Amino acid sequence: MRFLITAGPTREPLDPVRYLSNRSSGKMGYAIATAAAEAGHQVVLISGPVNLPAPAGVTIHSIQTAQQMWETTRELLRDEAPDIAILAAAVADYRPKFQHDQKIKKHQDSLTLELERTPDILGSMRQPFNFSGLLVGFAAETENLIANAMDKLQRKHCDLIIANDVSGSDTGFDTDQNEVILCFPDGRAETLPRQSKHDLARNLIQRLTALAFAIDKPSS
Ligand code: PMT
Repeated sequence: MRFLITAGPTREPLDPVRYLSNRSSGKMGYAIATAAAEAGHQVVLISGPVNLPAPAGVTIHSIQTAQQMWETTRELLRDEAPDIAILAAAVADYRPKFQHDQKIKKHQDSLTLELERTPDILGSMRQPFNFSGLLVGFAAETENLIANAMDKLQRKHCDLIIANDVSGSDTGFDTDQNEVILCFPDGRAETLPRQSKHDLARNLIQRLTALAFAIDKPSS
């Protein structure tokens, strides 16, 4: 099967030296890409800035901003026609409304930044990107994990949301382990217990390929 996977954070520039980003290390998305390639699948990975080695057998497209990830996703859906898309990236939800060409000099005691929404890549997959394959999103929450995940699943027309609580320090962002809840359109929520991101990724790839066959999702 053909996989499109996103991983890592995005960086939203404020000026030539500063940017808005988040704590994603890319480990979860890279583990999923590695597991998919090890299982013999064709894998393209759209990666934000991370300090991880390129997984063997995976084609990587590096980006910096949410806008670039949105555009690259659109192009690769058209060119690669994946069967399964897994969006594990921590895409910044907001970016500075104005990017300064010069470094902002620190004159005042405080600085107010106006932020604007970034493009919603998961929310664009069905429309306008016309992706009809198996669509898998993540939900990173600090409260009401399942309710927020189910809401995203419905609003973004996903086949599955992989929900993880990111309020702690030993699972979620920049950890080697994770614990997730698989949220399905029929309302089922299934916990996959804490394990290494690599073991979790192998488990997920097995489940998702079986699901894609079961749902018999055409790629596009
Ligand atoms: O990278 P690691 O350090 O290993 O950490 C793993 C992780 C915590 C980043 C990962 O497991 C995870 O939860 N990834 C999703 C993080 C996220 O942005 O969640 P969200 O609930 O804010 O977004 C929901 C979904 O929409 C995600 O699939 C996200 O990729 C997508 N999204 C979000 C915003 C946006 N502008 N476009 C998107 O496509």
